[in-house]
Amino acid sequence: MERCVAFLKDAEVYYLATVDGDQPRVRPFGTANVFEGKLYIQTGKVKDVSKQIHANPKVEICAFKDGQWLRIAGELAEDDRREAKQAMLDAYPSLQNMYSADDGNTEVFYFTKATATFSSFTAAPETITF
Ligand SMILES: Cc1cc2nc3c(=O)[nH]c(=O)nc-3n(C[C@H](O)[C@H](O)[C@H](O)COP(=O)(O)O)c2cc1C
Repeated sequence: MERCVAFLKDAEVYYLATVDGDQPRVRPFGTANVFEGKLYIQTGKVKDVSKQIHANPKVEICAFKDGQWLRIAGELAEDDRREAKQAMLDAYPSLQNMYSADDGNTEVFYFTKATATFSSFTAAPETITF
């Protein structure tokens, strides 16, 4: 899992796909933080992406860097604890212009039932579960 987070941070941008009824939705994301041994991402409750995750927690993310791509499919679980939100904001100080742990909007989710696959055109895929 640490390898996945390192890859996401190095790539800087990943794309988060959610399910909206029978319509896939995808958008760029950047937040990835390890807290208590789990992979967390951050968003705002006002966003459609948040509403989609609450309606259906199945998501997939994809990032590409240096000829290799990582996909992580799994489910997202909300962690409403202040310390989980603050850990994310501490990891991304630039977010503190827009978000705070107590603003009623900031939310963090961690991956469960995750299957991560590293792929490239030159090597066999490697799969990790966490
Ligand atoms: C490079 C980049 C990184 C981003 N990272 C995040 C992020 O970690 N969390 C977030 O909520 N929005 C992030 N955004 C903004 C979302 O992509 C944007 O708000 C998007 O419209 C949300 O999806 P939605 O419109 O389906 O709700 C990022 C945007 C860019 C360009």
